[in-house]
Amino acid sequence: MKVAVVMGGASPEHQVSLASGRGIAKAVSLLGHTAIPLVIDVEGDWVDGQHEAIEILQACDVTVPALHGEGGEDGTLQGFLQQLRIPYVGSGVAASAVGLDKHLTKAVLKAHGIAVTPGVTLAGPDLTDIEPAMQKLKAAGLDFPLFVKPGNGGSSFGVARATNLPTLLQAIAAAAVLDPHVLVEREMVGREIDLAVLEFPDGRIETAPALEIHSDPGQPFFNATAKYDSSATRFVVPAPLDPALAERLRRTAIEVFEVLGCEGLARVDFFVPADGEPVVNEINTFPGFTPASQFPRMWAAAGMSYAEVVDTLLRTAAA
Ligand code: DAL
Ligand code: MG
Repeated sequence: MKVAVVMGGASPEHQVSLASGRGIAKAVSLLGHTAIPLVIDVEGDWVDGQHEAIEILQACDVTVPALHGEGGEDGTLQGFLQQLRIPYVGSGVAASAVGLDKHLTKAVLKAHGIAVTPGVTLAGPDLTDIEPAMQKLKAAGLDFPLFVKPGNGGSSFGVARATNLPTLLQAIAAAAVLDPHVLVEREMVGREIDLAVLEFPDGRIETAPALEIHSDPGQPFFNATAKYDSSATRFVVPAPLDPALAERLRRTAIEVFEVLGCEGLARVDFFVPADGEPVVNEINTFPGFTPASQFPRMWAAAGMSYAEVVDTLLRTAAA
């Protein structure tokens, strides 16, 4: 089988994607297939040229869009591949687009009765006029400390914790540079638990043992530094969870996957407050896929090697 692995991309997660893509390409070769890496540069251009890239993609049996964030995990590349009738791994256009958009994800999940991190979305004049924005926060029962996030994006780029009005204004302005929608959310104090969802070629959808994030205590939250540049961040798999909670998170992760219409794979991230109900923080339709990333580590705890996970993704996409 010839497998194109698309990596890089114009999003701030370019480097993470290169690491995910290289890991996947290596696994594809280990599986006895031919891996053809295709890099998209930071400007969003195919390094080999678009015409050449299309020819390569069309000559392959399946494509792995190993991209994180805008331009790759948001349905745009998926639509491009679909238009060219190229089979690809993972979610289609709609699930990718909704899954990367934190506001839309929350709207869909809430409509299905799935609890999400409480918050409001600011857009337009609310981003510069703090009075109505503060009224919205108050009406939603939100108080400091707050988390501010750009509506789209990943790896916590542009995410900030605001403890007072000046830091809130600063955080909103910074997030608004990245996205026309800015989410302001309640700080969830408690445990951060990830679930890995994988679709098998026969259509079965399963989860791996949950993972708990022990983020670098030197960072204000599980930010990009704690994610990628810290030796003090630890992942515990399987997370020590009481069986009822583990089952609840498992069912919810699968429900999130199904409600959003995901395919292939996803990582669903939860907050579990010490004295409250778990909430879905977000979904990643192409989660970090370096050998050290949460997704393959959760499947390793289920007894599946990195290459076996990649094999499952390829076979599901081809099924
Ligand atoms: N967006 C990053 C790559 C993740 O979900 O792991
Ligand atoms: Mg994410």
